[in-house]
Amino acid sequence: MPLDTAVISADPAAYHTPLLLVVVPQGGQPASLAALDEATGGALGRLYGAASFAGKRDQTAVLYPSGPQERIVLSGAGKPGELDQASLRRAAAVGVRVAAGMGVASASVLCTAEAAEGISGGGGAAAVAQAITEGALFGAWRFDEFKEPPREQKPHLERVDLLVTSDAEDSAAGHAVGAAIGAGQTLARNLQMLPGNTCTPTYLAGVATDLGQRHGFEVTILDRAGIEEEGLGGLMAVSRGSEEEPRFIVVEYRGADAPPIVLVGKGVTFDTGGISLKLPPHMEEMKFDMSGAAAVLGTFEALGRLRPKCHVIGLVPSTDNMPSGSAFKPGDVIRSHSGKTIEIVNTDAEGRLILSDALSYAKRFDPACVLDAATLTGAVVVALGHIASGVMGTDDALIEEVRSAGNRSGERVWPLPLWDEYRDLIKSEIADMKNSGGRPAGTISAGWFLREFADGYPWAHIDIAGTAYTDRASPISGKGPTGVGVRLFSEFVLARQL
Ligand code: BES
Ligand code: MN
Ligand code: ZN
Repeated sequence: MPLDTAVISADPAAYHTPLLLVVVPQGGQPASLAALDEATGGALGRLYGAASFAGKRDQTAVLYPSGPQERIVLSGAGKPGELDQASLRRAAAVGVRVAAGMGVASASVLCTAEAAEGISGGGGAAAVAQAITEGALFGAWRFDEFKEPPREQKPHLERVDLLVTSDAEDSAAGHAVGAAIGAGQTLARNLQMLPGNTCTPTYLAGVATDLGQRHGFEVTILDRAGIEEEGLGGLMAVSRGSEEEPRFIVVEYRGADAPPIVLVGKGVTFDTGGISLKLPPHMEEMKFDMSGAAAVLGTFEALGRLRPKCHVIGLVPSTDNMPSGSAFKPGDVIRSHSGKTIEIVNTDAEGRLILSDALSYAKRFDPACVLDAATLTGAVVVALGHIASGVMGTDDALIEEVRSAGNRSGERVWPLPLWDEYRDLIKSEIADMKNSGGRPAGTISAGWFLREFADGYPWAHIDIAGTAYTDRASPISGKGPTGVGVRLFSEFVLARQL
């Protein structure tokens, strides 16, 4: 059961709840908590007095007070001068993760006025409610579809209420946005988590069809014959080694009569590397190679719930990348949808091949802009680690817009240059370009490859190979998928509403 959330107008000091989560800034006990401290018989004051809790980022403390709250969890948001939506979202996620681990079925969250202070400007309360709601949904996510239920089952966290004492209407509006984006992110993480033998291209197409039915989107699915007819040569080449049928998925949300924003997501449902086979260690992580596709489909879940005034088209080229007697191989020359030819030098550089088709396919929509998200290169992990995604593109203003959406959503991106000199890396003797530029500037040569096909519209590419999943647990999330891209895409699209 997914987490239920709501906004409730109530006095937190008098509110009966199994668990009250309080988001606080770094420093001493916030003045606004005086009544709560009194209600707890001074337990808060003793905690702060003992100097064992200072509200630092990711710091939590648990109290069992005598009062209407059975438990209080304090979650630190970090330094007061640096607080923004991202820090509140993070503190809520960290706190809700602690709450979920305590086996309570429901909890309430209070964001102290002091923690909310950093979010100035109009709609402060809405921005706070959105961030807290997104954080709660992020922190509560779990995936146990494939596990037998344990005999002695702890209750699962099923609802989190956001307690407010003022601005109820703005808070409700912000909560609605946060709940929609949170649902999109949950959908994305569930899809990411599914293994390659469940989440096939056909499965992803089924998810798109279901989204279409639930939200009234127009959905077009090209099967192998349709892909061949359309001349999607990159997707055809990559899928040749697999028994699993490829799919090309088109989803359209028409909330305004305007040139569309096109979102493209890499949908490689498992990447073995193909004939240029990957090494066994960590190969199982390549089920996450459809994370870009998950980001696009998750964004459509959010769009379907919010129905903003904008026009958005999602494109997902999907296949797995397998070695076999029919697989494409190094040395092959293929013709992409755009007509340009590509020399294959490494079958493990498959993502850019299927994306190249989607980028040239996008041209027919005369887009306002095209954004793509892809787990494209291991090199971006070397450059930026797991903290930020890489961004490249043809339009500085668009890249700035993506950066700003990234900062607001807490899914940060950082630019890498597409200077002309880098184009030399993908020069081919026999074709218009080759599909790999080797190790130096691996993320940029992949970006340059895509740029060859992103013609006729402003375009930005987001390399999420380092941010789509984590290989170890952290305070905000367990090991596994992050749903990255859903919040960034959603923020981007919402900011462009007509
Ligand atoms: N899916 C991988 C990139 C990847 C690596 C994603 C690590 C997540 C974590 C992609 O298809 C790939 O194999 N890229 C190659 C490109 C190279 C052959 C030019 C890479 O990064 O090694
Ligand atoms: Mn690969
Ligand atoms: Zn890949």
